[in-house]
Amino acid sequence: MSRLRSAVVKGKKGRLETVETTIRTRKKSKAPVKEEPTTSSFPPSLYHTFSDPAEVVFLRSHLLRWYDKDKRELPWRTLALTESDINIRTYAVWVSEIMLQQTQVATVKDYYNRWMKRWPTVQDLAAATIEEVNQMWAGLGYYSRGRRLHEGAQKVVLELKGQMPQTVDDLLKQLPGVGRYTASAIGSIALGQVTGAVDGNVIRVLCRLRAIGADSSSPAVTEALWRLANLLVDPERSGDFNQAMMELGARVCTPKGPLCSQCPVQSHCRSYHRVHVKQEQSAKELLGKLDMPDIEDCMNSGTCSLCPSEPWDDQLGVQNFPRKPPKKAPRAERTLTCVVTRPGEAGGEEYLLVQRPNKGLLAGLWEFPSVLLQEDNEVKQKRALCEEVNRVLRSCFNEHLLQYVGEVVHIFSHIHQTYVVYSMRLKDRAVTQQTPTEKRQWLTRPGLQEAAVSTGLKKIVKLFDTADSLKDKNSKDGKRQKPEGLKHDRSQKTKKSRPTAADGGGRQLSLSSFFKTVKEESS
Ligand code: ADE
Repeated sequence: MSRLRSAVVKGKKGRLETVETTIRTRKKSKAPVKEEPTTSSFPPSLYHTFSDPAEVVFLRSHLLRWYDKDKRELPWRTLALTESDINIRTYAVWVSEIMLQQTQVATVKDYYNRWMKRWPTVQDLAAATIEEVNQMWAGLGYYSRGRRLHEGAQKVVLELKGQMPQTVDDLLKQLPGVGRYTASAIGSIALGQVTGAVDGNVIRVLCRLRAIGADSSSPAVTEALWRLANLLVDPERSGDFNQAMMELGARVCTPKGPLCSQCPVQSHCRSYHRVHVKQEQSAKELLGKLDMPDIEDCMNSGTCSLCPSEPWDDQLGVQNFPRKPPKKAPRAERTLTCVVTRPGEAGGEEYLLVQRPNKGLLAGLWEFPSVLLQEDNEVKQKRALCEEVNRVLRSCFNEHLLQYVGEVVHIFSHIHQTYVVYSMRLKDRAVTQQTPTEKRQWLTRPGLQEAAVSTGLKKIVKLFDTADSLKDKNSKDGKRQKPEGLKHDRSQKTKKSRPTAADGGGRQLSLSSFFKTVKEESS
C-alpha cells in the first residue's frame, strides 16, 4: 500500500460484519416463495450477494493479484500513486474521471497528458479561458464535460480557497458534473476513501458475478450493485480495487466475447458456474446419465427484483447478464451547412466560422453557418442557407453562389445527424471586411485546425477537401463530370438515393474515410 493511502484508511473497520451466512438453493425448488423487501437495508436474495466473509477476502485477493500483475500503466494511475500533494492528486484524478466518462481509455490518454501539461493544478485550470478549454477538448465529445471541469475549477479557487473537496460527499455536493460514481472513484483513487464505485464496466462484472439479470438501470438493481460494490471493496486498497474491477470489465469481462478462461475471479462467478453446470448437464443427458448436478439459483426467482424476466439463453452463456432496456433510437436530423471561403491575406483560403450558443449541444464550439432542415424542398433550403450566410456577413449574396459538395453523417448519442454540405467561394476579400465579432471569425487553414471545433466539422472539412481535389483532378484530366461519390444529380435525386457519408455515398475509395459513421459526443 502506498505511503499516501495508509494514513487515510487507518482505523477503518473491515466491511465484513454485515455479511450473512450462505444459503444454497436449488432450481425448481418447491419451497414457498418468500417476498423480499427491496429497500436498501435488505438485499432481495442471498443468491445475489456475497454471504460468506471468507469468499469476499478471496475475491479481493484474486482480483488484486491479477491487477498488480496485469494492469495497464495509465498516466492518471501513476499520478494518483506518486503525487504527494493531496490537492493536485485529487484534481488529477478528477480530470481523468471526467474524461473517462463516455470515452475509451486509449482516446483519453493523449488528451489527459496534454491537459495536465498545460494545467497541472486546479489554479491553472481556473485561470484558463473557456475558449482554451473548448479548444483543448475539441474532438473528445460530450463538450459539457470540459465546461464543467472549468466551472468546477473556478468554484474551487473562488469559493473553496483553492482546496479540492476531500470527501466523497463534498466532491458530490461541490463539483459540477460529479455524480455518485465519479465522486466515489475520485474519493477512493485519490483519497483512499473506502467506497465502491459502480460504472458501466463494474455493472457488467457484478451482474455476472451474482447473476443479476433484471434491467440493470432499475432502482432495485442499481441499489443492489452499490451494496455489492461497497461490500466487496478492499478497505486497505479501495482505489486499486475499484480500478481493478473497471479493468476487469474493460479487458476480460467484456460485453461480447468475454475471456472467462483468463478471469481471476472465475471461481466466484455465478454466471460462469451456471454455464458450466449447464454444459455438464447436456453432456450427461447425451450419455443417458441421470445424476445431474444442481444449478444454483435464486430462491425467489419469479418475484425477485434482481432476477431476469426472460429465461436463460444457452447461446448467450455469461452474456445473459446484464440485461439493459432497449435503447431509444436516435432522432434523425438533417442540417444544411456552408463552407464559405475567401482569399487569405497571405495566400491560401480563409474560412468563415460562427460560434454556437453557450448552452446545449456543442455549446461554444465553432461551426460553419448552418440551418436545420425543416422541409425537404431544395430551393427553399438553399435559400435559407444563403440567408443565414448573409445574416452572418451582413451581405446579400445570391444563392446561385452555393455549390453542392456532398453529405456527411455524424452520430451523437441521441441524434443521427446528416450534414448536407455546400460551399460558397468568395473571390473578393473586400466584401467581407467587417470586424470580427465574438461570434464570427475568419480562420486560415492552420487556424481552423487549432480551433475549438467538433469532430462533425472536421469531417465536413475532409469532404470539402476531397471534393476539391477530385475536381482539380477531373479538370486536369479534361473530364466534365463530377466523380462518383460526390456526384449528385440534383434534378433526379430522391432522398434515399443521395450519397451520404454513412452509406459510402458511392464508390470512390478515396472517400471511404468520410463514410464511416463514428459514435460520438453529445452536449
Ligand atoms: N474508467 C473510469 N475510471 C477509470 C480508471 N481509473 N482506469 C481505467 N478506466 C477507467
